[in-house]
Amino acid sequence: MSDECKVTGFTPQQMARWPHVHKHLTGTLELPNLESISEEVILNIGEGIEAMLKTEGPTAKQLKARAGLFQHLKRTLERRFKNATLQQFGSSESGLTLQAGDLDLCLQFKGDVPAKTLRQVNRLLKQHDMEDIVMLPRAKVPIIKFKDERTKIPVDISINNTLALHNTELLKRFSACDDRIRTLILAVKHWALRRDVCDAASGTFSSYAWTLLAVQSMQRTNPPVAPILQAGKERTMVEVEGQTYDLTMGEVDSLVLDPKNNQSIGELFVEFIFQYAAAWPFKDNVVSVRTGDFVTRKSKGWKYATPRAEKAILMEKKTRLGLHSLPIEDPFDLNHDLSRVLRPAGALDVQEELFKACMAMASGERWGTIVDAKHPDRFLPVEEFDLFADLRTQSAVEVAALVKENTTAIEALDERMTALTEERQHNIKMSRALRGTIEETSDLRNELRTIVRTLRPRSQKMDELQKQRDEINKRVGLPLYRINELLSDVYLQLTGEIDLFQVPSLRREEDQFAWFFELQAMHQEATKAQDAHQAFIALLKEQKAAVRSLKENEKEQQKHKTELLEAEPMLKDLDLNFSDAMQFDKKAHKLMKVIDQRRQELRRLRREKGRLDAWVRISSNPSPHKGNHRGQKGGGKKRTKSGSADWKPRNNGPRPEEVQARAASGETFSLSDLDILLNSGGFNSVTQKKTTAKSSRRQERKKKANARGLTAHRGVRSQSKKGQKD
Ligand code: CTP
Ligand code: MG
Repeated sequence: MSDECKVTGFTPQQMARWPHVHKHLTGTLELPNLESISEEVILNIGEGIEAMLKTEGPTAKQLKARAGLFQHLKRTLERRFKNATLQQFGSSESGLTLQAGDLDLCLQFKGDVPAKTLRQVNRLLKQHDMEDIVMLPRAKVPIIKFKDERTKIPVDISINNTLALHNTELLKRFSACDDRIRTLILAVKHWALRRDVCDAASGTFSSYAWTLLAVQSMQRTNPPVAPILQAGKERTMVEVEGQTYDLTMGEVDSLVLDPKNNQSIGELFVEFIFQYAAAWPFKDNVVSVRTGDFVTRKSKGWKYATPRAEKAILMEKKTRLGLHSLPIEDPFDLNHDLSRVLRPAGALDVQEELFKACMAMASGERWGTIVDAKHPDRFLPVEEFDLFADLRTQSAVEVAALVKENTTAIEALDERMTALTEERQHNIKMSRALRGTIEETSDLRNELRTIVRTLRPRSQKMDELQKQRDEINKRVGLPLYRINELLSDVYLQLTGEIDLFQVPSLRREEDQFAWFFELQAMHQEATKAQDAHQAFIALLKEQKAAVRSLKENEKEQQKHKTELLEAEPMLKDLDLNFSDAMQFDKKAHKLMKVIDQRRQELRRLRREKGRLDAWVRISSNPSPHKGNHRGQKGGGKKRTKSGSADWKPRNNGPRPEEVQARAASGETFSLSDLDILLNSGGFNSVTQKKTTAKSSRRQERKKKANARGLTAHRGVRSQSKKGQKD
């Protein structure tokens, strides 16, 4: 007997994964009333959310890390794309961010987007050691995703994502209306993340979709907590990428909600869950923050298309979910339904989690249980990070060997880089020279080609004429001049005076007439033969002239080549053709890739040099009173989920020069000093530094950069000057 449910067709595994949805589909799920949720549960949820804000919200350090990374990317990309600006949007701009949030950035072009922009961004990111780079050129807006190698902050850069900049502003204004709006959004995001229903890439709702669901739930409380921000008579119509959008957005200051809602954050969270679980609005409605309430599917023309999630899940793998499954209208792009990303399993997961939270609240579960991580391994605290872990067990001799190895590797790679760069330059030069030469002689070669093109048809024509002439001559047998003579003789005989003593017989006269007509016909043919002959002679002359100019052209080309070779002797062994130039281009391109890789390697080695130098210094001069080294018990920097604690803003604490001075004088210094020192070039910079007018000017510039919150070894600073030019 089959184990599948007779009503739903769910397998035992599907019933285990979606027990509440399954009950709902079989009509046996009894959802509680909102009123049945106890005060205690609401209080506990409220406390849980407040505590969560403290632990899960980004720390000041992480915020600085994100700001630093943003500034670094902004400088890098804006320097490369002169007609574009890099702007933040999403949670890091709206303030609706948790530690797990990504950094959403938009490269906004003033004019046309240059071709291959995404690929060029990709290359730049690689040069700057970003990792896990993925390009999505065919997404609704082209996007590139990656992680910062150092801080592990996930970043999305999209191109011309204009509407996202506007909807971020809208969310920013919503959260400025009431603290509870921001708090509830963060609570919902936290719950959805931990319950694994907040990842558009894997078929559940995006963070943005959950944010809109949270806002709508607060617009629907009685009285509302969240206002309608897109109302008003005066409309702001803006054209974006050839389409006009209504981007009307009310000012927060002008909004006073009367009467005021006094619900606690615990109550609002409970109500959020109930609004989407117990009431399950998606059958007939569409979530619409724009209007402040659900709108009907009918009014939007968004039919509940098949297959629906519970049926699609029974079909073969990868069956797409029917459109508008759990519809959420984008506030500005009114044709965009945020449930478009849902997959059958994802949609069922979302419904299951809503039902589950609802039931948990009714049975008095605590906040901790409601947001219990579905996959705890994804939320493990990241191990303590010890910069010198591998070096602590090594002897001084072993460390010295590592230092030597590192120095040798840097030197070797430096040399290799120089050789590679020279080789690339040579290839570029060859290609340019070759192209230039081809260009310069192109007129001559065109002329040559034109002449050559006439030779063959002309020669064919001459053959034809010759054949025509010879055939006629063969047939006629007499040359034209002889026919003319005979014609005039016969004519005279036929038309001259008749000698009475020699009157020709009638027969003879008939013969003469016949002969005369025959001669006339022969004359016609022979004239044709003569014409053909003359045309042949004319063509022969032309052909001779063409061959003469061919020779002259070749001579001219040779002369030109000789002159160019005197200027560019390296072209000696080459034919002047484009395929050779292309070979050089290809080689130069390949070399550029190799150089990029080597440059990255070199950067890594230099960073390692800084670390080794620092360790040598520390281990030979341990701090007597600071036991809080990274990796030691009780000390050490904790890496957060995003790893961003490792980011050290330059303007936080002592300045690099101060630390360098202390290090140079042999004084002890703390780990944060060490961080600063590493970021500003390591110990070498201590010994090499001389204060010159130039270096003090550089320090001034550094100070200005510090004021912008940049870290010392970000960006081009870590590249060689040569590298920058390439
Ligand atoms: N966005 C959008 N349309 C979507 C998804 C996202 O316009 N279908 C835009 C929104 O401006 C949103 C931003 O992209 O604010 C970032 O989306 P997302 O990362 O999902 O939301 P965040 O609020 O940034 O969430 P998180 O903190 O998890 O990164
Ligand atoms: Mg985001």
